[in-house]
Amino acid sequence: PKRVRVHHLREAKERGERLTMLTAYDYPTARIFDEAGIDMLLIGDSIGNTMLGADSTLPVTVDELIPAVRAVSAACRRAFVVADLPFGSYEASAEQAFFTAVRMLKEGGAHAVKFEGGRRVAAQVRMLTDAGIPVVGHLGFTPQSENLLGGKRVQGRGDEDAERLCEDAIALQEAGAVAVVLEMVPAPLAARVTEILHIPTIGIGAGPSCDGQVLVWLDMAGMGDWSPSFSKQFGQVGTALRDAAAAYAREVRTGTFPDAAHSFLE
Ligand code: KIV
Ligand code: NA
Repeated sequence: PKRVRVHHLREAKERGERLTMLTAYDYPTARIFDEAGIDMLLIGDSIGNTMLGADSTLPVTVDELIPAVRAVSAACRRAFVVADLPFGSYEASAEQAFFTAVRMLKEGGAHAVKFEGGRRVAAQVRMLTDAGIPVVGHLGFTPQSENLLGGKRVQGRGDEDAERLCEDAIALQEAGAVAVVLEMVPAPLAARVTEILHIPTIGIGAGPSCDGQVLVWLDMAGMGDWSPSFSKQFGQVGTALRDAAAAYAREVRTGTFPDAAHSFLE
């Protein structure tokens, strides 16, 4: 399969072809999503909530994320691989963002990085872009700021907040961002940002008008124990896995497995 590259993102927007993105945190699931034709895989700092049992993304470290980035990169033959920059690893300066991003590409094998914020991280976007590292922005509800935002809340409601979000989106584009994730934004505002920008918007809880969509894979596949109202379950992987584990335990306990067919007879 032909690798999805940065120019395909803008071409997709120009052609009106929707981009697909899912999170991935390990080799086997990344391989399945890559084979399924998902355009972009995100090693999100949502790994904190989904895989590491934390109750937010804040405790996730660069050292924790890199092995996941390496595993996903190794699995992908077609997908564009985007690594999140964890909380505390890019906000202080453009230089800090640069050194963290370099690790994601050098040690992790990612093609691009994503981090949260608008104008406040424009210098970071510019420095990475100048260094040849594609950046995906992230606006709207930004989970790393949940303590300041007062919880998981829709962002950009009201004229003033909407205006601010549009200006942040434009600042990211002007700094060189190749796409912008819009999380928990009213659908009309996401539509407006999508129209203003020439780089693609990738929505999550941002209505039907974005140029692409991203979901946390456990929510999408029915694997998690909780999922947000804007997500949709397209499968019952959790149930399938529980059934498989229960069937295995039953056969071991009854002596049905292993049988002769699954043994070395000499
Ligand atoms: O970490 C993550 O999974 C994300 C997506 C929800 C966009 O940032
Ligand atoms: Na994230």
